[in-house]
Amino acid sequence: MALGVKVPKKDGEKIRRMLIDIGAYNPEYKIKREGDFLIIPVKYPVEGLTVIEADLERVNRRPNSYKEIVNIPPSLKTLLPTSFDIIGDIAIIEIPEKLLEYRKEIGEAILKVHKGIKAVFMKGSKVQGKYRVRELIHIAGVRKTETIHRENGIRLKLDVSKVYFSPRLATERRRIYERSKEGEIVFDMFAGVGPYSILLAKKVKMVFACDINPWAIIYLEENIRINKINNVVPILGDVRKVAGKLKADRIIMNLPRYAGEFLREAFMSIKNEGVIHYYGFGPEHDPYGEHIARIEKISEEFDAKIKILDKRIIRNYAPRQYNIALDFQVIFS
Ligand SMILES: C[S@@+](CC[C@H](N)C(=O)[O-])C[C@H]1O[C@@H](n2cnc3c(N)ncnc32)[C@H](O)[C@@H]1O
Repeated sequence: MALGVKVPKKDGEKIRRMLIDIGAYNPEYKIKREGDFLIIPVKYPVEGLTVIEADLERVNRRPNSYKEIVNIPPSLKTLLPTSFDIIGDIAIIEIPEKLLEYRKEIGEAILKVHKGIKAVFMKGSKVQGKYRVRELIHIAGVRKTETIHRENGIRLKLDVSKVYFSPRLATERRRIYERSKEGEIVFDMFAGVGPYSILLAKKVKMVFACDINPWAIIYLEENIRINKINNVVPILGDVRKVAGKLKADRIIMNLPRYAGEFLREAFMSIKNEGVIHYYGFGPEHDPYGEHIARIEKISEEFDAKIKILDKRIIRNYAPRQYNIALDFQVIFS
């Protein structure tokens, strides 16, 4: 039962507007017809109108979150993850151990609430190995791993089980795009399927995009084609073999776990006064210290100076661990 005001049909629209204006209208219920009268749902009695308790139908509101409809014991609801990754039409969620037996219910609830999602996977491992790929376990929807993801105005085709891709870096990629300049040569040392390379190619002169994972290069080539780009050069192989053979105005080192081990390669490939975008992981109490020390040490080997242009925390990576970015310029003496 809900509260409603009973009004003649002919006055219905006028009174409905008045109720909205004074904040008394209750949008959770539908207006009901009763002969020549309407019963308009209200939140509280309104002076001058006949208020009754009526059997009003609830408005079907679409739930905002899968948490509202997931079929699990209420006591476990607080353990449900608040966020998950959406890559194209595929959702990837990290399910806490205590909820593993409800993984199918969680997957089904995600499919119900997010109409654009066709497949749901749970994380089966951390990002691992030299290709930086994680194991995925199918929990609901279609059994497919290839999709097309849209970000920053480009389309990226990829297979979530074969290549690394994180939609959480879209803003960071946009930032690098904004800092890049027309006429530049860019070297994307760990390019993956090309989210930086393809975006930057829309502005700069040329992008050399290297990756050691053959699947990343297959999708990169496909993405060059579907985005109608003609200034990205895909390079399949270990970046150690390429470094020094080309000179770039800007280098992107998006391999946070190991970027420090590739700094020499970056210094070999950067032009005088060129800029390096370096990514790493660092502890909360001093996220940049270890990385800056390592960069300074390598710069001495190259008789170069560095100028830190920017440093920022991109996201929490693990408890008390940040994924950080450092932009620095290299000046050779
Ligand atoms: C963290 S992913 C980043 C991919 C891409 N930049 C992105 O934002 O989606 C790192 C990539 O580096 C590649 N990689 C790892 N070691 C490499 C190496 N020695 N040479 C070239 N690529 C490498 C992996 O295959 C992976 O695709």
